[in-house]
Amino acid sequence: MKNIMVTGGAGFIGSNFVLYMLDKHPDYNIVVYDKLTYAGNLDNLLAVSDEPSYRFVKGDICDRLTVEETIKKYDIDTIVNFAAETHVDRSIMNPDAFIQTSVYGTYVLLEAARKLRLERYHQISTDEVYGHIPAGQSSVEGDKVEPRSPYAASKASADLMVNAYHITYGLPVTITRGSNNIGPFQYPEKVVPLFTTNAIDSKPLPVYGDGRQMREYQYVVDHCEAIDLVLHKGAIGEIYNVGTGEEMENLTMVEVLLDTLGKSRGLIRHVADRPGHDRRYSLNIGKIRALGWQPRHTPAEAVAKTAVWYRDNEWWWRKVRNRDFDAYYEKQYGERLKGK
Ligand code: NAD
Ligand code: TYD
Repeated sequence: MKNIMVTGGAGFIGSNFVLYMLDKHPDYNIVVYDKLTYAGNLDNLLAVSDEPSYRFVKGDICDRLTVEETIKKYDIDTIVNFAAETHVDRSIMNPDAFIQTSVYGTYVLLEAARKLRLERYHQISTDEVYGHIPAGQSSVEGDKVEPRSPYAASKASADLMVNAYHITYGLPVTITRGSNNIGPFQYPEKVVPLFTTNAIDSKPLPVYGDGRQMREYQYVVDHCEAIDLVLHKGAIGEIYNVGTGEEMENLTMVEVLLDTLGKSRGLIRHVADRPGHDRRYSLNIGKIRALGWQPRHTPAEAVAKTAVWYRDNEWWWRKVRNRDFDAYYEKQYGERLKGK
């Protein structure tokens, strides 16, 4: 492994992964291949923009010719695919782009990896493919996928195609399934940066339903470390869950966040729930622990550290919470916050 194409590398987790890899492996070359949708942001990569081992290519993973040209031009041996539409609420409003990118786009990347005989194709997946997990249970990698939102279904479809390329064509693949990542550079539509930036401006925090849903809030760098490990030590054809081993209720997450910022709990507003809202995700992480990885942050530490980052980096998120964001916010929350 020497020349890695990181698709979706200008987004939240992808950019954190690029920064992590360039620091950890100075001998690797990284090409970020990204369409720069509303969620892609080159500000995330400013710290490495002058590094000779980093290149940026603007492109869509659904565009076969540009994907193949980029692989040839930079002598790519490994693809790590982060590119996806990623917000459940947007997938409920309009699933089209989710299907295009995760289903067709993943197929295009797999075909290119097969044709150009890459050393490795790694797919970034999610705990959401397992669907709602009842209390007392946790998902292991062999469990069947039961996605319940268009987002989760698009990700599960991609995983199935990755596995099919391994079984049918012998493509050397690996998959990691992460939990709810938080940390620097997350677009503020996702709950932790949305609530943090709202709280900084003393705006209400729209908690869906009773707020007792459970998520594993994971510090993004822990996830990046796990992906790096799987790239180097993971067994070909295998899936690895990457969670925290500890879940947290949304309301607890909100309390940690407000306390960290010194803001009043009076900002909490319970609003109409998300349709089909998965109540709980829970990952068994025995398999990746056995590979030598462990989480470095608890969910509470991750939430507090993330809130501090947004408090200290208004330059980043004030640019992102722009007119387009306001239009989305009004559509998603306008009626809900009026109690309708
Ligand atoms: P993000 O929305 O912040 O970034 C997605 C990136 O993909 C953006 O830079 C966007 O421009 C790019 N992109 C979208 N469509 C593209 C296309 N057709 N061609 C090329 N680039 C395209 O997402 P994220 O939160 O960083 O998630 C990255 C990956 O990790 C996704 O596959 C997601 O499903 C997965 N994941 C996310 C989480 C989480 O908590 N955020 C958890 C587990 C897994
Ligand atoms: P989100 O960050 O959208 O991630 P996901 O749905 O992929 O887990 O949401 C995390 C949790 O927070 C989820 O239980 C839904 C809840 N949530 C709210 O209560 N209010 C909000 O405004 C948002 C965006 C999410």
